[in-house]
Amino acid sequence: MSATPIRREGHILITGGAGFLGTNIAAALAARGDDVLIFDNLSRDHVRENVSWLQQRYSHRISLRAADVRDLDAANDAVRGARAVIHLAAQVAVTTSVADPIADFEVNARGTLNVLEAVRRHVPQVPLLFASTNKVYGKLLPIEALARQGQRYVPRDPQDAAGFGESTPLSLYSPYGCSKGAADQYVLDYARIYGLKTTVFRMSCLYGPHQFGNEDQGWVAHFLISALRGEPTSIYGDGYQVRDVLEVDDAVSAYLLALEKADAVSGAVFNLGGGPENTLSLRELLDAIERMEGRPPAVSFHDWRPGDQPWYVSDTRAFTRVADWTPQVNVETGLRRLHDWLLDSSVVQQARREAVA
Ligand SMILES: NC(=O)c1ccc[n+]([C@@H]2O[C@H](COP(=O)([O-])OP(=O)(O)OC[C@H]3O[C@@H](n4cnc5c(N)ncnc54)[C@H](O)[C@@H]3O)[C@@H](O)[C@H]2O)c1
Repeated sequence: MSATPIRREGHILITGGAGFLGTNIAAALAARGDDVLIFDNLSRDHVRENVSWLQQRYSHRISLRAADVRDLDAANDAVRGARAVIHLAAQVAVTTSVADPIADFEVNARGTLNVLEAVRRHVPQVPLLFASTNKVYGKLLPIEALARQGQRYVPRDPQDAAGFGESTPLSLYSPYGCSKGAADQYVLDYARIYGLKTTVFRMSCLYGPHQFGNEDQGWVAHFLISALRGEPTSIYGDGYQVRDVLEVDDAVSAYLLALEKADAVSGAVFNLGGGPENTLSLRELLDAIERMEGRPPAVSFHDWRPGDQPWYVSDTRAFTRVADWTPQVNVETGLRRLHDWLLDSSVVQQARREAVA
């Protein structure tokens, strides 16, 4: 793969395209014959492996621009000739944002503004999809609004069980929540003020192949990686907290549908996640790992982390209505798929080699 962009008219630009979601979207686009320009500063650990994987399979369809969204000139250059932009590049961890809120702001808020300005100047007619987060809704239900049921919390008010929709008031919590929330609002505003075809997905937890989860982000993959490497997992909070989880193939299909239906979804925001049918608590994930591995993973418990939502489930019906989309991969199948992918991955193989050496 070339480190410099191969200029192709009509490419689809994916910022953060070397990351977990970006790699899966890039593979799906390349497989159906689209040219993809990945724009990524390769700052996340292991994402070079994703690029190599893409290179082996689709080298003629995929080019890489190793650059940073904080660089407006590079963003301007990358959007020229694009026929769609998928903006995923981000500082992705709440913990890192708390440690360095200015760097987090520069990448997530300013970087997004750079991408928007580049699109406005050079390709104002093309769709732009942005990956926002459920963190823009804040903590939502406090523990007092939840009851324990088995290995998870459930909302005491049955109305909450349908999940949170897009009209949930914004309550930006944590520097990451603030920087992604600012970006989310800029993306929507560029549709209102400049008429760009922008769409925001407020995503819950995604999981699947090519996810190099760590303690700070990507908990499903992180728990699995730790177990497969024989390392203990730290649980922050009591482990009964619940998320809806979406297998990455279902996320990819949502992004492809949004590109297809760009006019219908322009200027709109959609919650994207597994919804009430696909939820998982931390403790339930540990149980699932035990079933797959035949032994319980080692864990230790620690205080809650700032901004952690004890219960968050997306109401995804708005996107279902507009795009006829529903998740197809259930949690058990998705976890097995990620488990099997991780078994062959470098992060697990390397630890296993070291253990026998
Ligand atoms: N994975 C999830 O569960 C989830 C949930 C909600 C929102 N999101 C959002 O979805 C997007 C993709 O998430 P992901 O899980 O694929 O994350 P990821 O960390 O795997 O991918 C992000 C990519 O962005 C790149 N990047 C980071 N800073 C950059 C910069 N300054 N310039 C250019 N590239 C940069 C990284 O190298 C990485 O390849 C992110 O915007 C994230 O905030 C993800």
